[in-house]
Amino acid sequence: MSGPGRFISFEGIDGSGKSTQARRLATHLEGQGHDVVLTREPGGSPGAEDIRALVLEGEPDRWSPETEILLFTAARRDHLERTILPAIEAGKIVICDRFADSTRMYQGLRRDGLRALVDQLHDLMIGREPDLTVLIDMDPATGLQRALSRGAGEERFESFGNDLQAKMRAGFLELAAEFPDRFVTIDGSRDMDEVAADVTRTVTGWLS
Ligand code: ADP
Ligand code: TYD
Repeated sequence: MSGPGRFISFEGIDGSGKSTQARRLATHLEGQGHDVVLTREPGGSPGAEDIRALVLEGEPDRWSPETEILLFTAARRDHLERTILPAIEAGKIVICDRFADSTRMYQGLRRDGLRALVDQLHDLMIGREPDLTVLIDMDPATGLQRALSRGAGEERFESFGNDLQAKMRAGFLELAAEFPDRFVTIDGSRDMDEVAADVTRTVTGWLS
């Protein structure tokens, strides 16, 4: 693809099918001849993957919400500098499994006032939103079941349970209403192939 690159993020609660759909979209777009970089947060660059282990493993109260905001933002800054921006500048399509909206939700909703802190640090250190954000919306109990059945050992957030998962779902839908220009919401409760067809149709339409 020539011309400017694009930056697409996938968001949603744990187990909603983001990783599956991000991977399938990448394969589809590559098949159409696009140059695609599939990446994820936390992580996506060697330094940010090191921070991933710090934030996703261990006891749920290992870090305060404030420290977590700093760690996720540090990981994001490294990912942006070393992976995302170089790929966009080279004209590629970057597909990222989670980005700053996840910090707005997972850290920002933990207590009153934290969302403002997330946004301040984002403006200071990141200053960039995806061009398109695909929200995979999903029933929280089913999402949690799917996420726990993977057993990947990165369970700090998954162990917060159903209530948090429900709060996150509502929060993501509110975020989609807050940023209507870049968000599209896809019903993730359907069969994997149906969801993928919907994602492909939406993104292809947006790209053209
Ligand atoms: P996320 O990245 O949002 O946590 P994943 O893509 O890793 O979600 O999916 C979580 C689990 O659910 C995986 O085992 C995946 O194979 C399965 N899964 C994903 N999408 C669907 C779907 N539409 N229906 C049933 N199972 C699904
Ligand atoms: P991820 O690997 O996408 O998990 P899943 O596939 O289960 O959705 O993300 C791991 C966890 O990290 C997830 O529970 C959400 C959390 N997270 C935050 O709390 N803040 C953030 O900024 C990001 C990017 C992720």
